[in-house]
Amino acid sequence: MNHLVFQTVVLYAVLYFGQGNHVIQPRNLKVSMNLTLQQLLLEWYVSDDPKTNHCEIDIVFTIQIYRTEENNIILTENYTTALNKSNQPLNWSWISDIPLQCATHGVRLRSMVAPLEAWSNWTSWEAVDGLDVLNDSKGYIFPYEKYVEEGSSVTFCCIAKKNEHVTNYTFHKHTEIVNTTQQRIMFTETAVPLTSEMGLSVYCRFSYQSSFSDLDRTVLFVTRQPDEPRLLDCETKDMVELKCTWDPGEIYSYNDNCLTEFILSDVSHTKTYCSCTKQCRLCQFKISGEQTKYNLTLVSKNCLGQKQAYVDIDVANRVLLPPPDQLSVGYQNATMIQLYWTLKPIMKTLLVVCQVNIFSLDEEEKQYNMTVLSSPPLHPHINLHGLQVYTNYTLKVRCAAANDLFWKWSKWSQTITIQTNESAPAGQLDIWGDISPGFKERNVTVFWKASPGFQANGNIKTYEICWENVEQSGGCHSTKSNNYTISLNSQSYKITVWAKNSASASPPSVLHLSAAEDNGDVKYSEENTTGNTAHGIYVSWKPTSKFDGYVVDWCNYPRSQPCDFQWRRFGQNESSTIITSGAFSRGMRYTFRVYGTQGNRMCLLEKKTKYLKELEPVQDPSFNISAVTSSSVTVSWESYPEDSQLGFIRGYNVYIKMANRNCTLKLSETLLFPGDLVACKHTIKDRNEKKLTLRNLEPGITYLLAVQAYSVNPRNMADKFEPVTTQLERNWFHRLLPPLITVPLMIIICVCFWKSDCVRNYLFPEVPHPHVSPVKKTLVVIEDHEVTPDRLVVMKKPDISIDSLLFEGRAIENATYFNPSCCQSLQDQEGASRKLSCASTSYRPLQDFVKSRPTTSCPPETGQSNLNYVSQIKVPLLGVLQGASPSFREP
Ligand SMILES: *[C@@H]1O[C@H](CO)[C@@H](O)[C@H](O)[C@H]1NC(C)=O
Ligand SMILES: *[C@@H]1O[C@H](CO)[C@@H](O)[C@H](O)[C@H]1NC(C)=O
Ligand SMILES: *[C@@H]1O[C@H](CO)[C@@H](O)[C@H](O)[C@H]1NC(C)=O
Ligand SMILES: *[C@@H]1O[C@H](CO)[C@@H](O)[C@H](O)[C@H]1NC(C)=O
Ligand SMILES: *[C@@H]1O[C@H](CO)[C@@H](O)[C@H](O)[C@H]1NC(C)=O
Ligand SMILES: *[C@@H]1O[C@H](CO)[C@@H](O)[C@H](O)[C@H]1NC(C)=O
Ligand SMILES: *[C@@H]1O[C@H](CO)[C@@H](O)[C@H](O)[C@H]1NC(C)=O
Ligand SMILES: *[C@@H]1O[C@H](CO)[C@@H](O)[C@H](O)[C@H]1NC(C)=O
Ligand SMILES: *[C@@H]1O[C@H](CO)[C@@H](O)[C@H](O)[C@H]1NC(C)=O
Repeated sequence: MNHLVFQTVVLYAVLYFGQGNHVIQPRNLKVSMNLTLQQLLLEWYVSDDPKTNHCEIDIVFTIQIYRTEENNIILTENYTTALNKSNQPLNWSWISDIPLQCATHGVRLRSMVAPLEAWSNWTSWEAVDGLDVLNDSKGYIFPYEKYVEEGSSVTFCCIAKKNEHVTNYTFHKHTEIVNTTQQRIMFTETAVPLTSEMGLSVYCRFSYQSSFSDLDRTVLFVTRQPDEPRLLDCETKDMVELKCTWDPGEIYSYNDNCLTEFILSDVSHTKTYCSCTKQCRLCQFKISGEQTKYNLTLVSKNCLGQKQAYVDIDVANRVLLPPPDQLSVGYQNATMIQLYWTLKPIMKTLLVVCQVNIFSLDEEEKQYNMTVLSSPPLHPHINLHGLQVYTNYTLKVRCAAANDLFWKWSKWSQTITIQTNESAPAGQLDIWGDISPGFKERNVTVFWKASPGFQANGNIKTYEICWENVEQSGGCHSTKSNNYTISLNSQSYKITVWAKNSASASPPSVLHLSAAEDNGDVKYSEENTTGNTAHGIYVSWKPTSKFDGYVVDWCNYPRSQPCDFQWRRFGQNESSTIITSGAFSRGMRYTFRVYGTQGNRMCLLEKKTKYLKELEPVQDPSFNISAVTSSSVTVSWESYPEDSQLGFIRGYNVYIKMANRNCTLKLSETLLFPGDLVACKHTIKDRNEKKLTLRNLEPGITYLLAVQAYSVNPRNMADKFEPVTTQLERNWFHRLLPPLITVPLMIIICVCFWKSDCVRNYLFPEVPHPHVSPVKKTLVVIEDHEVTPDRLVVMKKPDISIDSLLFEGRAIENATYFNPSCCQSLQDQEGASRKLSCASTSYRPLQDFVKSRPTTSCPPETGQSNLNYVSQIKVPLLGVLQGASPSFREP
């Protein structure tokens, strides 16, 4: 009875204990290594438990790993799983942070039925020895060629062969000395730096080696996980193929064992479209059937990790058309271009917008939009109106899906340059004439230039010039030049000029040339440089209410032929101008003619000779002294090189001085010098003079002479004096000698006179009597070749005046009439007084000019008794014109 009771109590106790301490003991733990994966693999069973026969229970295992070398439990981890009859044996794995070969690992575990039952007993430690290579016949280094992430810690170990030990190791050129007798050592490098493809070398030196050997070397590759791909997007040019592109970021590893791979797939990774390695950045695949929406994921991965990017696209909204091509012109005229281009066909019919860009050098770039359907034939065109005539336009086209589906413009097509057609030149030429009057014929050079309103509208091929007189006789000429010279008789003429391009001709410009007439005087003035600017010459005139405008003309190169004839027009209220020209040079003389326009009439008002600038200082000429008598001396000097200084030299000063004597020469200015010296100065107001004869000198006296050129500005006295001594008076014998000779001579003459005829006839054959014809009715000119072509010196001729140069104009409908006589009334008031004085100075009896006559016994009444000078211009009589038609202009 008692025995039964005990049994029952024990049973209940066991039942009670079993319910309260439900323990399942792990058994048969086996530990192994997968060295490739550096994994520790655990495998175990649990004791049979009746409760687990019927149902699943949650069970938690605590797993501990012990590393002998570190003498430490390096891991305690809970592993929870659902336990049933069929899932045994249980498995768990762990990746070691150090090479498994480097240490001995011990593993144990215990279990607990969840939740919060009692722990089972620990299993015993199961060791797995990495040292099983220890007794090998060679040494090792672990890990072998491992890839690790930048900055991580890496543990290495060196294992010597049987019965040897490790003496040394180097990591990345840094040698560590170890002093052990150990067969195996372990060392850890922290924060390893990023390496190149070569990696970092690690050497171990063993006791049996005298130095490091390549055999005991390994390489560590330090790299990074791939960057996350950026800018993943896709587009299609034809809706047949989708092209996805991305920025792969930086690639850190190129070694085959850790290549970066890109995989483009759908989001669920069920369909992979592309995979590529290294720096690949695009993937192209065919759009499947009707699918237009794609959710794509791009994975970039290497041996260390992976990153992803996503994109959702609608293919219709990703159409990037290829650039349009075959740009061509259908029709064009002067103001319009019809531009055609071609589009590549696309799978679906879309609304496409094309943008046409048109550009020319002088207009702003313009753009036009045009919408077309993307269904063949794809040859859209656009009419571009309002273009400029004869202009090069550069055109290009780009297209894109229109409206909501707009994604991106295509690239621009290649450009095409089209020149619009020519049209008739617009506006008129500004024409002007330069007349060289002759005796019977005038040489009229007609010049033209584009007026401000003139537009060539093409390539001007020729200028047409026609002329006709009242009798309708005349001619025409076609030229590419900007001027033409016609020889016309003295009748009035109508001259017409127009410009022609390949389209047509401009409206004509007309110049009416009136009959050549005498015209009286034109005011002529020579001026200095007053009013000029650094590069411009000041020209002024007296404006009169009579005129409605003014024209100034001149030659840019007055010395050359052609002289580069220029003219400028001025308004009614203008009375002066600064004429600038790059051609103007210092010291050169320029002649400006000022014309007034009166209604449509024009007339020459004034001629002015001006300089741009004077040259300073003027050099004095070298001089010669000749013809020395007892009372006179002739001084002559060289004239100046014309190119340099002629323009501003106004004349010469001749200085004469004697020691302690007063200046006795008449009409000379007397100058007082320091030391009681007195000099006479004679001023010659003609730059063309080359000679001066000094008279009334005293015999046997030494005079000092100097010649000085002067310009507009006054100068100090010359300093280079040269001495000359006049001849002595003759002695008494010489005084007596003339009577001794003259008395018999007189007797002979008287006899001869008495017998004059016979003597004369005997002595002299018949000689024509010198006859001086009057200068009247004869135009006498001197053409000064050394001066400018228009620098002609004209001696007064009463009937045909040089002033017939004057133009008079009457313009009717753009026609300009030249009529010289129109100015007369205007100029009479001013001219009357001047005419008189002009005549008296410019006209001199011919005899005076034939040659220098220093010995004349009758001084001319002008009072210049002791000074006769020879003018280069006025004196040599160059020609008497009779019917010839010389080309000349008045100064
Ligand atoms: C290690 O694991 C890899 C991958 O699972 C396997 O291919 C290899 O056979 C395993 N090696 C050993 C020795 O178990
Ligand atoms: C494992 O689980 C037990 C019970 O839940 C807990 O007390 C212990 O702290 C856990 N150990 C670790 C390492 O998480
Ligand atoms: C647990 O260990 C104790 C003491 O070593 C032992 O008495 C007991 O039987 C063990 N429990 C099991 C289930 O093996
Ligand atoms: C370690 O290597 C260096 C260089 O090879 C050598 O000079 C040195 O003696 C070695 N140290 C030991 C302890 O062997
Ligand atoms: C190396 O160890 C031996 C004994 O283990 C010792 O005698 C020797 O001094 C040590 N050498 C160095 C450089 O520490
Ligand atoms: C794609 O993704 C969008 C949101 O990101 C979702 O609404 C849509 O259903 C997805 N489509 C597919 C085909 O997975
Ligand atoms: C160019 O052609 C267009 C279209 O035919 C026309 O409207 C325009 O007037 C033409 N322009 C010229 C300058 O002929
Ligand atoms: C042409 O179309 C584009 C895109 O629709 C738009 O941005 C642009 O303003 C348009 N230009 C003109 C001149 O209409
Ligand atoms: C247009 O370009 C062509 C070729 O460069 C050139 O010969 C022509 O002179 C240009 N036309 C104009 C009006 O600039």
